[in-house]
Amino acid sequence: MLEPGRIIRLEDDAVVLLDQRRLPAEEAELVCRSSAEVAEAIRTLAVRGAPAIGIAAAYGYALAARCGEDLEAAVAVLAAARPTAVNAAWALEEMQRWCGDPAERARQIHAEEVERCRAMSAHAAALLQPGTRALTHCNAGGLATGGYGTAVGALRTAWEGGLLEHVLVDETRPLLQGARLTAWELEEAGIPHAVIADSAAGAMMARGDVDVVVTGADRIAANGDTANKIGTYSLAVLAAHHEIPFYVVAPSSTVDLATVSGDAIPIEERSGDEVTTRFAARNLAFDVTPAGLIAAIVTEAGVHRAPYSASLAGLVAA
Ligand code: MRU
Repeated sequence: MLEPGRIIRLEDDAVVLLDQRRLPAEEAELVCRSSAEVAEAIRTLAVRGAPAIGIAAAYGYALAARCGEDLEAAVAVLAAARPTAVNAAWALEEMQRWCGDPAERARQIHAEEVERCRAMSAHAAALLQPGTRALTHCNAGGLATGGYGTAVGALRTAWEGGLLEHVLVDETRPLLQGARLTAWELEEAGIPHAVIADSAAGAMMARGDVDVVVTGADRIAANGDTANKIGTYSLAVLAAHHEIPFYVVAPSSTVDLATVSGDAIPIEERSGDEVTTRFAARNLAFDVTPAGLIAAIVTEAGVHRAPYSASLAGLVAA
């Protein structure tokens, strides 16, 4: 797995991140010296992926406390950086509840996320048959989680268990988290893979080249509706058409029981410049996959099946 401190860490006077915007060309660190700089790193995707956003927010809060910043203002700026992933709000609530040293709780949150990833990956890998050819979208790997990965964690565990043959990686337009980040992680792990254009997924399924689709999540509503990177919904529709199981792998910190259904999940719309600077553009960063298209949601607690309002009920991050 990727060494957690290589992805994100708290130092005495800074939060230090592996700058994901520059991968895979360059492994460069970004040093953030205030909560506002951490928020900017989150907003610009130097650090990204729901659990990693939560970890960065926790470290940003700890840094703010250490530097004597106004903590309410720090919470506001960190929570607003990316609205769809619920993990920042979750981590900031944890930090505000904590009575001890903020740095200690932030480091715990990081370690707990990595542990959750390992547990859910074992549960998810157990769903796969030997020889599985998987398709994944965006990056739900160690980079997105501070260490091991959710969907990519499941693929790592399946590979180590001899269950995985190959991974198709959606390039994930417009910011190419699949082609740049997931492919880089799979290469580092020695897992056979091939990047495909997002629009090729349906044809690959029709040819019989995909046994399972595995993705992460940014927010899972109480009824199982799941927000994830734009294009996930299309994949789930395609998977249903081809009778291919579509699994979501995510920690309990991504499950938002206070949000009743997908309609209430805030969807971030980013600058059209990320799509094209030549013409007018729309850039929805996430979509919502209805629970009915999801064969199972896998968390560290186990495999949850429909009806999700019952199987996710009472789930809390421990
Ligand atoms: O815009 P991003 O790169 O932060 O989007 C990330 C995703 O959509 C991931 O699939 C999700 O956050 C899960 S990461 C374990």
